[in-house]
Amino acid sequence: MKKVLRMLGLLLAGVVFLGACAATFVQVRGIPSYDKPQVAAQKIVATPARIAHGQKIVNAMCADCHLNKQTGALTGKLLTELPPEFGKLYSANITQDKQHGIGAWSDEELVGLLRTGIGRDGRFRVVMPNFVHMSDEDVASVISYLHSTDSQVQPNATPSHEQEPSFLAKALVNTVMKPLPMPAGAVLAPEPTDAVAYGRYLVIGRYKCYDCHSKDFKTNNHLEPEQSEGYLAGGAAMTMPDGSSIVTRNLTPDPETGLGDWTEAQFVQAVRYGQSPHGPLRAPMPKFTLMDETEAKAIYAYLRTVPVLKNATPEDGAAAVATR
Ligand code: HEC
Ligand code: HEC
Repeated sequence: MKKVLRMLGLLLAGVVFLGACAATFVQVRGIPSYDKPQVAAQKIVATPARIAHGQKIVNAMCADCHLNKQTGALTGKLLTELPPEFGKLYSANITQDKQHGIGAWSDEELVGLLRTGIGRDGRFRVVMPNFVHMSDEDVASVISYLHSTDSQVQPNATPSHEQEPSFLAKALVNTVMKPLPMPAGAVLAPEPTDAVAYGRYLVIGRYKCYDCHSKDFKTNNHLEPEQSEGYLAGGAAMTMPDGSSIVTRNLTPDPETGLGDWTEAQFVQAVRYGQSPHGPLRAPMPKFTLMDETEAKAIYAYLRTVPVLKNATPEDGAAAVATR
């Protein structure tokens, strides 16, 4: 008996010791670096059409995090919508400033970052979403806009803030949060005439609705988004600008807890103008003001086809939540 106890004691001491080692490792290692992504040599040609299209995507997909109200430009800021247990994380200056922005980044380096999350210095950019399913044309448009004469991207020497990740955030980036591989071949968007396929592309590739609107950011599958837990059924917790918490809504066609009873017109109104039948939609739901009607209708068409999941979020009313 004594011997068994002693063995157990040793084992326990071993586990505690290993745990302490792992904790020290995470603490010291911080945010990991990786080999720079291998991106085919390219020179992106900025056409007026690409710049306009890129502006639309950047306003919907990047400005909420990168636009600083004080500077009126994409100079970065503290990200207040992240749950506080991740520590203090800041988006970066992505204006054309050569020292503090992305003025010195090559097109390949920008493509590599947007696809994988790995920066030109090899450091993994945590929280920055990776746009792995965005079409090559959309990526080229985003970069064309970043290089344009628009006032939001003109060189601005505001330095980017250093990250202050919590222990939890460091532990996550050393375990489950990893950069993604470069796409193996060309990434093409379907034609807008195929509404369901185009809608799927918008939800997964261009606007990443699934990223916020599935069960939990931690269980999202970015390589195969449809495999994310609770795909499009809402529930991910976010923080509103006033610090209170909010969960995302169910977008599957469930008639009670999802969008099953919504008309196309109601949906278009909600996504393009932030007016849902329940009232105005609050941040962090992005404002898709530059999205065109064809896109909103295609998303609606696709959302009619995704698996129905029942998931009542608090805003559906106390009765619905109680039946969860
Ligand atoms: C959820 C918030 C968020 C969104 C949305 C977002 N970013 Fe970021 N971005 C970040 C954070 C955080 C960093 C990392 C800062 C760091 O670690 O240094 C970053 C870093 C970057 C960098 C690297 C800059 C540098 O100097 O390291 C570029 C370029 C960039 N983002 C471009 C974009 C573009 C283009 C979009 C839209 C297509 C976008 N980001 C969307 C949060 C975001
Ligand atoms: C950054 C996270 C985020 C992204 C990306 C996002 N949403 Fe949302 N969405 C939210 C949040 C949070 C709410 C809840 C807002 C509220 O309750 O006021 C919401 C609410 C909604 C609603 C209202 C549902 C209801 O029952 O009232 C619709 C519709 C919607 N989003 C559609 C979309 C679509 C379509 C996309 C992609 C084009 C998208 N969202 C992308 C966070 C996001």
